[in-house]
Amino acid sequence: MCGIVGFTGSANAVPKIVKGLKVLEYRGYDSVGLAAQLNGEIKTLKCKGRVDALRDKLEQEHFPATDCAIGHTRWATHGGPSDINAHPHSTDTLALVHNGIIENYRELKAQLLEKGVKFVSETDSEVAAWVITEEYKAQKDPIKAIYSSLKKLSGSYAFEILFKDRPGEIFAVRQGSPLILATGVDGGYIASDMTALLPFTDTFCFLREGALAHVTKDSVQIVKEDGTLEEPVWQKTDMTVEAAEKCGYPHFMLKEIHEQPNAFLKTVSPRIKNGLPDFSGDGVSDDLLRRAKKIYIVACGSAMHAGLCGKYLIEHWAKIPVTVEIASEFRYNDPLIDSDTLMIIVSQSGETADSLAALRYGKEHGAFTMGIINVVGSSIAREADATLYTYAGPEIAVATTKGYCVQVAAFMLIAAKLSALCGTLSENEVRTLCSELCRDVPKAIEETFSLHDEIKEIAKKLYQSENLFYIGRGIDYALGVEGSLKLKEISYIHSEAYAAGELKHGTISLITEGTPVIAVATSARLYDKTVSNIRECSSRGANVLFICYNDAHQPENVADTVLRLPKVGRHAEMLAAMTAMQLIAYEVAVLRGCDIDRPRNLAKSVTVE
Ligand code: F6R
Repeated sequence: MCGIVGFTGSANAVPKIVKGLKVLEYRGYDSVGLAAQLNGEIKTLKCKGRVDALRDKLEQEHFPATDCAIGHTRWATHGGPSDINAHPHSTDTLALVHNGIIENYRELKAQLLEKGVKFVSETDSEVAAWVITEEYKAQKDPIKAIYSSLKKLSGSYAFEILFKDRPGEIFAVRQGSPLILATGVDGGYIASDMTALLPFTDTFCFLREGALAHVTKDSVQIVKEDGTLEEPVWQKTDMTVEAAEKCGYPHFMLKEIHEQPNAFLKTVSPRIKNGLPDFSGDGVSDDLLRRAKKIYIVACGSAMHAGLCGKYLIEHWAKIPVTVEIASEFRYNDPLIDSDTLMIIVSQSGETADSLAALRYGKEHGAFTMGIINVVGSSIAREADATLYTYAGPEIAVATTKGYCVQVAAFMLIAAKLSALCGTLSENEVRTLCSELCRDVPKAIEETFSLHDEIKEIAKKLYQSENLFYIGRGIDYALGVEGSLKLKEISYIHSEAYAAGELKHGTISLITEGTPVIAVATSARLYDKTVSNIRECSSRGANVLFICYNDAHQPENVADTVLRLPKVGRHAEMLAAMTAMQLIAYEVAVLRGCDIDRPRNLAKSVTVE
């Protein structure tokens, strides 16, 4: 949700900002801009559109070199996408970029209007720029001015600020939105995401909530409200630039789908010790898990869909009741939390505002909170009582694929662990399960890639559809919900997922001659029942694609097209089926000429409620 990046040092800042913004484009891509320190002035260039549009403008205008600049790529919240609403926002004193939302901007704007301030944009960010400006004029000290402004602003923010009369200095502060500090050979950096800085350095510091950073070409400091310094905690990353590049794939999404076998293994295998799941390295003791009498899984979007698989796996293997809640609803549903409640917050980015708010609510009410998080050092990872990191590496495509895969992987481990602790599976059964997971799941996903040509043919039959249904039972329903979301978000075809047996309670009225239906059956358990539901659809004219486990018996004329999953092993079919659905969504979107990695209206990390 908006990407921001800043550099000050001995090199030209402009190409660095453009490069960083290009990497950050997945966080938002409706408008873009930068502000640079130039001879005691701040020069700003911004426009509607993407980073390439800014790059063209910079060239056309022969934008001069500068040693200090900040940049922003936007996902619009207050004020539509336009040149004027693009960041940076400037006053007579400063330029500012902002990621987040200022909730009380209306009252603040009214007060500033009364004082005669003239606003040019419709954004809440411009209001913040003026609040800080007023404080700076009164206090003449940027650090004091920023800290006292923060007392007036409510909401979430990460700001980077250039003051006209402080050349070569960037001030930045965060509350609820991430900021990462970095040092390189040629200066100091600050960005909303580590990936933006990987081309320049491998040493980072996650700025803590509420902290203020002062970056100059010689130093990167964290300054407390009383003016004293806080020692930054520097960490090296082994993440490479290639991890944030396409490496020959036409789209990040396809690259990331192909990274799933490895990401699965990296997430699961280090946590299997002596053949059994072991979370001691994650700070999750067996005693804590033993206490869990009920579990809430709380997340948004695909992460919540991974949670639906988690519910199925935990209830099936460990027999502990699990409730899956949409994070934005959680706090308002009066959840029944006590000290025997384990709350699992699932988030690829670790920054999703609703998930973070739900986590805080759970903690306040006494739950033990555990994150399943991909981004190291992110807000949820830092605030949860414990975190199981998923090791998918940076996920750049807006539509998650490998991020979802490793979340399901984490749930497989958690379910196995809980069933060992609760004794619902014997130690030997858990051992077998763990070795099967490591051996079979990556192989099953890998072998699904060999169905890609078949899937391309399937996509040709689907891409002109206007509506589509996914059906399945049990875990296949949970998979269908995610398959449907993938298709919707990148191909813009309307689709819905239904529990296969539920369709006849109303929605079947939408099935007419030629309506495409994708039915999923990954195991024998509910196969015959699903086949009956398919028949209900096909007898009303539906065009059915049946994704089924490899040696399923195939009743005649049940489906128009059958996609048999690779024959690998139990528990492996679910992620094979998901891979097939990801590839279907991908190929359909390719045929429709969609912007696969940057679907309209979306952003990768949703840091507003
Ligand atoms: C869909 C997608 C989103 C995210 C959701 C939560 O492809 O990526 O639905 O799953 O916004 O994001 P995280 O996992 O970062 O909390």
